[in-house]
Amino acid sequence: MHAAIQTIEQDFEQALRQAQTRADIEAVRVGFLGRKGRVAELFSQLSALPDADKPLAGKLVNELKNRLHDQLALADARVSDQEAGRRTESSHLDITLPGIRQRRGTCHPLSIVIEEICALFVEMGFKVVEGPEIETEYYNFEALNIPLEHPSRESFDTFYVQGVHLLRSHTSPVQVRVLEKEKPPIQIVVPGRVYRPDATDASHSFMFHQIEGLLIDEGISFAHLKSVLSVFAKKLFGSQTSIRFRPHFFPFTEPSAEVDVSCIICRGKGCRVCKQSGWLEVLGSGMVHPQVLAAGNIDPEKYSGFAFGMGVERIAMLKYGVDDIRLFFENDTRFIRQFS
Ligand code: PHE
Repeated sequence: MHAAIQTIEQDFEQALRQAQTRADIEAVRVGFLGRKGRVAELFSQLSALPDADKPLAGKLVNELKNRLHDQLALADARVSDQEAGRRTESSHLDITLPGIRQRRGTCHPLSIVIEEICALFVEMGFKVVEGPEIETEYYNFEALNIPLEHPSRESFDTFYVQGVHLLRSHTSPVQVRVLEKEKPPIQIVVPGRVYRPDATDASHSFMFHQIEGLLIDEGISFAHLKSVLSVFAKKLFGSQTSIRFRPHFFPFTEPSAEVDVSCIICRGKGCRVCKQSGWLEVLGSGMVHPQVLAAGNIDPEKYSGFAFGMGVERIAMLKYGVDDIRLFFENDTRFIRQFS
């Protein structure tokens, strides 16, 4: 019995040394500890022994069984580790696998248009500044010569946040904020978001973007406004573009005008986009009202200037032929990707 145990143990150790995979180890287990394995065979031989030898022999075979069992478990753990190691090693090193393509981001079309427009004005000496989107009634209305009871307040009416705070309905409040802080000459453009409680449709959004312009100095006249906007229109829409002024009313400019550019689609001949008029309305403008200068502590006797405000979405829609303003805000990258 002793000899048989020793032989089995040597055979077992040799078989285990040769085992490379978990499958090999399983084969060793079946061969030695399986129901018809060599240890089972030893157990079956116990009955043939004399009764006096049975307890000791049984104990030895049991101990053999436990040793083999433990060694199998150790070998199994070792081979499993190796196999896992091989797997991760190969996945780290397999440079032939195709990579995961990273799509480069693109600029949002509105950002492109804002940057382009601001760059044109920077070329003409304007500085880009920004102001708060949450404004006070004072800057959004009163300082801009729009008193509480004034009917024009309605067209700029907006979302109230709390008490006197509101979401600004135009970028014009930044005019006064800058006038208060700086001395003429002042020459700024102000891009930013504005809010109006309009029902959303293909051409209206409760939030959109404007770019405000303001130039204040001694001796500034309407002629300066006309030349700056004319250069701007030609640079943005092409050198054949002309502009025209239509009288209008804004409480914060006097005189005021709306500015049209010759239709960039039909070049003024008349088409669907310009509704056969040959002109497209793109911005509001005028000479800064003396009340507004006074609100900014600028002497209206000494200084004068002009201001203008344009809607970025409208210009982007014209420039890119986009026919629904909602496309800009839906975050559909299939749309946004097309403009870089
Ligand atoms: N703030 C005006 C608007 O939102 C535009 C404007 C700006 C008009 C500056 C004149 C001067 O409609």
